[in-house]
Amino acid sequence: SQAGIRHVAQARASDLRPVVGIGGKVAKPDYSEQKIVLAMVGLPARGKSYLSNKLMRYLKQWLEYEVRVFNVGQLRRSRAREKKKMSGIKDDHTANFFSHENAEGNAAREKLSEDALEMLIDWLKSGGNVGIHDATNSTKARRARIAARVAREVGFQVIFLESVCSDPEVIAANVALKVSSGDPDYKDMDPETAKRDFLRRIKEYEAVYETLTEPKLSYLRITNIGKQATVCDIHGYLSSRIAFFLMNLHLKPRSVYLSRHGESQYNLEGKIGGDAPLSERGQMYAQALPSLVKDNIGDAPLTVWTSTLQRTIQTAERLPYPKLTWKSLDELDAGVCDGMTYDEIEKAYPDDFASRDDDKFNYRYRGGESYRDVVLRLEPVIMELERQENILIIGHQAIIRCLYAYFHNIPQSDLPYIKIPLHTVIKLTPMAYGYTLPIDAVDTHRAKPNAPPPEQPQTSSRRVYFAP
Ligand code: F6P
Ligand code: PEP
Repeated sequence: SQAGIRHVAQARASDLRPVVGIGGKVAKPDYSEQKIVLAMVGLPARGKSYLSNKLMRYLKQWLEYEVRVFNVGQLRRSRAREKKKMSGIKDDHTANFFSHENAEGNAAREKLSEDALEMLIDWLKSGGNVGIHDATNSTKARRARIAARVAREVGFQVIFLESVCSDPEVIAANVALKVSSGDPDYKDMDPETAKRDFLRRIKEYEAVYETLTEPKLSYLRITNIGKQATVCDIHGYLSSRIAFFLMNLHLKPRSVYLSRHGESQYNLEGKIGGDAPLSERGQMYAQALPSLVKDNIGDAPLTVWTSTLQRTIQTAERLPYPKLTWKSLDELDAGVCDGMTYDEIEKAYPDDFASRDDDKFNYRYRGGESYRDVVLRLEPVIMELERQENILIIGHQAIIRCLYAYFHNIPQSDLPYIKIPLHTVIKLTPMAYGYTLPIDAVDTHRAKPNAPPPEQPQTSSRRVYFAP
């Protein structure tokens, strides 16, 4: 009924399942046969660690693979610390160490790379699915050694992922980050000396750098993240997902804003689910939202995404931006419990109620969904979010929790308990802020009984509450 709102139909995870009539615990998919070594390639300051971590979050949080990053620089530093502690000798890890003319340095780096690869392979053997070898791997010789070692393991696959970056601004920003963020390589150096040394280190690598052209290797090359991608000999579901995800990333500055709908009639009555309209205070939130958003975003372009439920559509009604409604953004389906209060559910289905408290992420409502199901159906939303620039999502408690957990890398067991109050806009940027409108609303948060409150996740974000 909303003029200008297009419907984006998305299959729900539950549409894809043969039987969803019975509630209860849902098992994790079995990926034990998947063994991928993902070896990064690139000069320093080309975003290799950024890509590694982003990919890890996506594959872990969304596709539930066991993923771990093995960072060669970290191994080098931890061994150097150990050596200093034992013998008092401090290794020289200035640019001299990385020079191609430093035979001793080369041998040491090669050994570190090999040791990290051995740890990675051991970890894959003990149950991991994707091990990311985060190093420069910038010569054909190094890559040939990695490929040969992985080939000795039956059923293991190696994919190289090269990050090429020619944008001087991005490189300068990465260099600045390295020397100013308390990076352990430079923590005892003044920023100017550190910058000079790091630029010299890059030069040393450039002298011997060989871009990926080896015809026998499976590889992906991302040029200026978001601009160009080369895909060579990539097969299979997981490898294709990795390629697809990386092709959707971009580095343009933008923000993702998350808000629940305004307070609804059902919220007031303590009922879950349904398709109730906004309460009076919910309408106040919808009225106040446009100026809050405008004050924050100014004249920058923004697109608003809602679910298909009227409480989100009403909340977005006055926002003067293009809108999309997504079926995938509809609230977690509570099945037979839809429209009931928590007290009513506890009386009618005491065992189910207890099972949900016991393992809220995996519990699936009878005829409805679990958080795990919701995460699955949100995957296309996440992919689209990566591709887009400024987006405001008007969603629901469980939905916003899942999206928030993706950006903040929050474990599954804590995800269903993340506090996402009503009448609050959360702004996610590399440094995330949150904004609350001081219009009272009921608290729909229900803590896990008899459990200490979950630790606040360690992230680089903080929330600021403000009155417009
Ligand atoms: O109470 C509001 C609501 O969005 C319900 O519609 C939904 O079932 C519930 O929150 C999800 O939260 P929880 O998983 O904590 O029950
Ligand atoms: C490092 O030691 O920081 C590193 C990334 O190693 P390499 O360049 O040898 O891969």
